[in-house]
Amino acid sequence: MRFATTEGFLNRSLVVVNRDIELRCGDDDVLVEVHASSVNPKDWKLNTNFSSLVPHIAGRAPNIIGDDLAGVVLECGKKVTAFSVGDQVYGMDMNWRTAACAERAIISQRMVARKPDKLSFGEAAAVPLAGLTALQALRLGNTQAGSKVLVIGASGGVGSFAVQIAKALGAAVTGVCSGKNQSLVLGLGAGSVIDYTQGDYRRETRDFDVVFDATSYETPQSCASLLQNDGFFVSTGGQATAYTGWATAKLLPGQHQAKIVMVKSNTADLDALRELIEAGKVRVVIDSEFSLGDIEQAYERSKSGRARGKIVINIHD
Ligand SMILES: NC(=O)c1ccc[n+]([C@@H]2O[C@H](COP(=O)([O-])OP(=O)(O)OC[C@H]3O[C@@H](n4cnc5c(N)ncnc54)[C@H](OP(=O)(O)O)[C@@H]3O)[C@@H](O)[C@H]2O)c1
Repeated sequence: MRFATTEGFLNRSLVVVNRDIELRCGDDDVLVEVHASSVNPKDWKLNTNFSSLVPHIAGRAPNIIGDDLAGVVLECGKKVTAFSVGDQVYGMDMNWRTAACAERAIISQRMVARKPDKLSFGEAAAVPLAGLTALQALRLGNTQAGSKVLVIGASGGVGSFAVQIAKALGAAVTGVCSGKNQSLVLGLGAGSVIDYTQGDYRRETRDFDVVFDATSYETPQSCASLLQNDGFFVSTGGQATAYTGWATAKLLPGQHQAKIVMVKSNTADLDALRELIEAGKVRVVIDSEFSLGDIEQAYERSKSGRARGKIVINIHD
């Protein structure tokens, strides 16, 4: 089976290999023929650095890259009731074993759902990690009809879902993006956009109920003037500063609530995303698509920090 893994010691490089691997379907698992996966910044932040040695040290080698998958069920564990062989599914698991950038993968039935019919496998694989993060972050911010929501990083993988989900929840959405992405973000349903390259919008006094920082660059402190009293600052926590900002806000509580979303995969939320997609309220923005053999280029595109929407890996060329 072909899969993407890492090799080397301190400097972990990404390689695609063709090797026989025994995949054992546990009672609660499904074995999936993976048609597509997608790249998330976590993949290159964690999967190609020193921490990716852990599965090797723990005797769980090889460490196969990737969390998001879309494909067809090949086999069901004894306790699987919700899925059958031949079902088209999508989902994600951030555990080491899921290993989505591979021709076949094992995943718990609790972390997959029926794939949205209207999406290709590539589009479906772009949804789980980023879409779930956006959905769960907006919930953490108590987003509801009438909420005023600012999405920072509105053109990225997480942000492009957040704009649309907040709008679907009935919120009034403002997106922060660069000038070249303004029409994209307005097209996703933002009522207005702020071009972050044209001055420091964070110094403005605004009255947002929720500031969702999908970029992880900001802190509750840097965005304090944007929030109304009792407002929620929610970060994706992808940078160390996001944690120091969050910890400071906890130690010295002000009038804003600071949260960091830690995405969790579950069938109910994947079903909720599918319903939004099938209702035409959420579409998938694809930045680019790569074949498994070109996964290194897909990583480079993600590392550029300039992706507009999601980067897809097609497993079967
Ligand atoms: N905690 C969790 O559970 C969790 C889950 C998912 C992701 N994350 C983290 O969340 C972060 C974002 O993930 P992602 O998949 O959305 O990343 P991404 O798709 O790579 O984000 C790229 C986008 O960010 C925009 N951007 C860059 N700098 C910006 C700025 N200063 N202001 C506004 N927009 C800016 C870029 O637009 P321009 O080209 O216009 O700048 C681009 O469209 C990562 O750090 C990731 O690790 C955490």
